[in-house]
Amino acid sequence: MGNKGQRDGFGSKLGIIAAAAGSAIGLGNIWRFPYLTGENGGAAFLFVYLICIIAVGLPVMLAEFVVGRRSQRNAIGAFKKLVPGTPWVLAGWLGVAAAFIILSFYGVIAGWTLDYILKSLTNGFAGKSPVELEQMFTTLISNPVKPVVFQLIFMALTAGIVLTGVSDGIEKFAKVLMPMLLVIIIILDIRAVTLNGASQGLSFLFSPDFSKIKPDMVLAALGQAFFSMSLGMGIMITYGSYIGKKENLGTTALSVSIADTLIALLAGIAIFPAVFAFGIDPNSGPGLVFITLPNVFNQMAGGQIFGILFFMLLAVAALTSTMSLMEVVVAYVTEEFNMSRKKTTILIASLISLLGVFASLSNGTISHIDFFGYNLFDFLDFVTSSFFLTIGAFIISIFVGWFMDKNAIRDEITNGGTLKVAYMGAFNVLIKIVAPIGIALVFLKGIGFM
Ligand code: PHE
Repeated sequence: MGNKGQRDGFGSKLGIIAAAAGSAIGLGNIWRFPYLTGENGGAAFLFVYLICIIAVGLPVMLAEFVVGRRSQRNAIGAFKKLVPGTPWVLAGWLGVAAAFIILSFYGVIAGWTLDYILKSLTNGFAGKSPVELEQMFTTLISNPVKPVVFQLIFMALTAGIVLTGVSDGIEKFAKVLMPMLLVIIIILDIRAVTLNGASQGLSFLFSPDFSKIKPDMVLAALGQAFFSMSLGMGIMITYGSYIGKKENLGTTALSVSIADTLIALLAGIAIFPAVFAFGIDPNSGPGLVFITLPNVFNQMAGGQIFGILFFMLLAVAALTSTMSLMEVVVAYVTEEFNMSRKKTTILIASLISLLGVFASLSNGTISHIDFFGYNLFDFLDFVTSSFFLTIGAFIISIFVGWFMDKNAIRDEITNGGTLKVAYMGAFNVLIKIVAPIGIALVFLKGIGFM
């Protein structure tokens, strides 16, 4: 593959799904989804989340695939090719900028997971009280050197994979890493559901109390659906452009969405039974996996092994996501500026890492520098998830729903009329009306307008 003049792309159906699901499945599933579910009352949140995936996430993912495969270009190039000289390209710009910025702080969190693998390998949680475990986490993230070094290692790893290309790098690694992730999470699930007192955790996750559904929670669920499915930042446009013409885009989007949701559920099943069995508050926010879980591992028979496995799971999940974030920027620069993949990857990885260094330091040494009331780390997270992703996804749904050539859309979804699809009508309603309205609500909420 990778012949000169021929565009690199995914080599097999399994490779496509592994890579796209690898992007979707990440810290969002294993770190963010469980703590949001915990904060928002459990099963009722899950119920709303599932509706958001089906009604908004799935159609937007398909729309991104359509734009990508139709144009055979990166996130920005796609709009330049399909609708030259129009402002639609803004969605591409936002996407590439979002990928750049998200990777800078996501790489920092990914770095923490490496430190936690080492901590669990050396039995570093043993004998620590809950307060000490909390201090352990805050000491790590505010340290001026350690998290920076781990972040750089993680970024180097990511760059090493991305610079070898789409089929030889990203696809190949995703095909190994994703099954590994599945095996680890299933082992953790078996351990969790066989704990004494596991049933309370399972019913927290699966028996909904519908009176807990509140507008706030609905918006949190929709925002999580975007983040988790890697939507609104050009990832699925870029990956869509690597999908072969014979593949069925609808079933691909469906498989990726199911895989993403399944892993979030399996993460919930691994975490909540343990949290309840050991009498820990499920509502402990972002610290859930880094502070709460080490407490759980401490109290559990075989806890050290499960701790090692868990943090490896986090690192693997994060790696297939950082690959996709880097690829969005690299694909743009190599294609639009005709640069070699290797040079581009090194350049882009260095620039993103540099921003990441400041993001990491802003949890400690330079935490006093204020960005609208946030430190840099939280500010980058806030602007990208509240503004970039939502505006990007909104523009894409309006573009595909109302402005993109109808025949081109039909052609992509039916592979030139060779596939019979029964969902065309439903897709139209979702992408034209339901998705943009849902996204607009998330946006207004994000900027504190509602
Ligand atoms: N979808 C990934 C996750 O769930 C995160 C991600 C967000 C990846 C944005 C890429 C872009 O963790």
